[in-house]
Amino acid sequence: MISHESIEKNLGLLIVLTILIVSIGGLVQIVPLFFQTSTTQAVAGLTPYTPLQLAGRDLYIREGCVGCHSQMVRPFRAETERYGHYSVAGEYVYDRPFLWGSKRTGPDLHRVGGRYSDAWHAAHLMNPRDVVPESNMPAYPWLDRPLKDDAIQQKMRVLNLVGHGYTEEQIAGAPAALEGKTELDAMVAYLQVLGTHAPKN
Ligand code: HEC
Repeated sequence: MISHESIEKNLGLLIVLTILIVSIGGLVQIVPLFFQTSTTQAVAGLTPYTPLQLAGRDLYIREGCVGCHSQMVRPFRAETERYGHYSVAGEYVYDRPFLWGSKRTGPDLHRVGGRYSDAWHAAHLMNPRDVVPESNMPAYPWLDRPLKDDAIQQKMRVLNLVGHGYTEEQIAGAPAALEGKTELDAMVAYLQVLGTHAPKN
């Protein structure tokens, strides 16, 4: 039997036992989440991003929008009254990587889909001050250039490895879906679908 005193005096043993105990606590909290349908199944109606939305999502990452915008409405009254239904895990199953963010210089964007017109978003991204005079969001005027995403089919194939379920037909049609689009089109397509599958109650 190891006495308490001998554990405290033996640093190596103390470290090993501490790690053991902490990991049991962690596993008990984390492992069940992998098997709960509420965290692993898509909410009703949610589909993987279309090629254009997927390209827009990559631009969102490239431009660092996540540094100022979160994508997670928390279950507090102040948030649900401002943004809408709080976010649930099943809305993010096609988000790889997640873009939850942790900084809100600007508002949360998880329920922004459908809130403004495409034209509003385009004007806002070109120069936020044209539509929101007091805004301190940077302008992204270069987004108004042709979209170039040669890797779109490979990206869809890789996402299929983790279960996104794009059909061969969708993958084959991806380059055509991006044909003639601008980066702005892709970004707006992505913003407009964000959070549009909120639970109904
Ligand atoms: C430096 C911080 C900052 C960055 C970076 C930033 N934003 Fe913003 N964003 C803001 C602020 C502040 C507002 C609120 C004022 C406004 O509407 O312009 C805002 C507002 C918005 C809104 C309107 C939200 C609403 O509900 O009214 C959208 C959409 C948006 N940003 C998208 C983006 C996108 C897309 C990017 C990346 C291309 C981006 N933002 C980058 C600060 C930022």
